[in-house]
Amino acid sequence: MDTSFDMFLETEVPDHELIISRTDLKGNITYANETFAMISGYDPDELIGKPHNIVRHPDMPRSVFKELWETLGRGENWQGFVKNRREDSGYYWVHAEISGVYKDGKLVEYKSLRTPIERETKINMQNKYDDMRKKEEKSSRVVINVSDEKLAKIKEIIG
Ligand SMILES: Cc1cc2nc3c(=O)[nH]c(=O)nc-3n(C[C@H](O)[C@H](O)[C@H](O)COP(=O)(O)O)c2cc1C
Repeated sequence: MDTSFDMFLETEVPDHELIISRTDLKGNITYANETFAMISGYDPDELIGKPHNIVRHPDMPRSVFKELWETLGRGENWQGFVKNRREDSGYYWVHAEISGVYKDGKLVEYKSLRTPIERETKINMQNKYDDMRKKEEKSSRVVINVSDEKLAKIKEIIG
């Protein structure tokens, strides 16, 4: 049997670096700092004008971004852990803080500041997001409540 697999390399965000971007209200990138470009493997020019999902990693559950946009929509700041995809298909993990940019009291853009995270947190978040995706991708979820006694019987039957 032929087996093939892909290997994706992680880019570590250096401790002293801050990844900064801004978007318009629809999530199109309006500003990217050098660090964002360097870590994501794009030129700043390639990033400006593109939707921010250009760095979206398939491991990220949809619900995380849904919650992000709902939070911003309420005028609140969002923060969370994000796995992003590099241009070369590698990845990098960050803790992101996203908030509104206001001009004369009016919301004009969003900005995101991202900082590195601990290895252990990355492992925990990967597991959490894997679980979330498994649940979310199923079209339906069946929840059955059974007594301990019945559960033991079922386990016996299905081995
Ligand atoms: C300021 C700002 C920064 C964002 N940064 C990221 C990011 O680093 N990675 C990411 O996947 N999505 C980021 N998003 C969310 C994207 O806009 C998008 O919702 C997400 O990638 C999911 O893609 P989809 O909406 O096409 O499903 C950001 C949004 C905003 C407003």
